[in-house]
Amino acid sequence: MAVLEAKDVSMYFGELAALKEINLSVEQGEILGLIGPNGAGKTTFFNCATGFLTCTRGDIFFKGQNITRVPGHRVCHIGICRTFQIVQSFSEMTVLENVMMGAFCRHPNTSNSMHSAQDILDFTGLADKRDQIAGSLTLADQKRIELARTIATEPDLILLDEVMAGLNPAETEEAIELIKKIHQKGLTIIVVEHVMEVIMNISHRIAVFDSGELIVEGPPEKIVRDERVIQAYLGEEYHA
Ligand SMILES: Nc1ncnc2c1ncn2[C@@H]1O[C@H](COP(=O)(O)OP(=O)(O)OP(=O)(O)O)[C@@H](O)[C@H]1O
Ligand SMILES: [Mg+2]
Repeated sequence: MAVLEAKDVSMYFGELAALKEINLSVEQGEILGLIGPNGAGKTTFFNCATGFLTCTRGDIFFKGQNITRVPGHRVCHIGICRTFQIVQSFSEMTVLENVMMGAFCRHPNTSNSMHSAQDILDFTGLADKRDQIAGSLTLADQKRIELARTIATEPDLILLDEVMAGLNPAETEEAIELIKKIHQKGLTIIVVEHVMEVIMNISHRIAVFDSGELIVEGPPEKIVRDERVIQAYLGEEYHA
């Protein structure tokens, strides 16, 4: 069974169709790359799948359950968590407290939440920064905190919206390694990213959005040779 399935999902902002009849699913354990030009509808798709927006038409299912109208704060309990394109750490709080905010989803008791958050800090390589104020850290660390807080909610599916944007090559490499490590825990992942090296490196399958439409989906090596993708997004054929 698909972990996430969108059926005929459309999202209108007034006259603007940000998503047009999207049919897309992601299978258990898969890493799906989602690419497309600015304004293609990638973040809107994430917003609809996580209850930040209710799509205008169509339905979204999580493990067979219709979640189209489930509000954002419930989606996390069901097992979906996302990161934000603009980093959203609690900048006045420590790294540990930030991750505890995620852990509270499963561990309402403070000491259990702290224990769980500490494990996640070890896992994500943030342990030595646990008492630092999140807002004082580099963008790369703040993005890492966001990833840590996301997995602290113990999700089955995570949606990553440009978690590597703005990172230098070394930081990007570290972020890729962390995402692969998270995937090895058994999570299903949808990743939005503009850096093609990253998408090609981690995706099992890629879906391409353009002007709200899903124009093509398939294995990475097929996608980068697809004429529609080259026209709409890549500009020229991608070579690793
Ligand atoms: N809340 C909103 N109200 C009105 N229009 C919106 C809203 N959110 C998104 N849009 C519009 O919907 C379209 C899709 O935007 P979206 O943010 O989903 O694109 P994207 O693929 O994530 O782009 P980018 O790569 O730049 O992040 C754009 O035209 C955008 O301006
Ligand atoms: Mg976006």
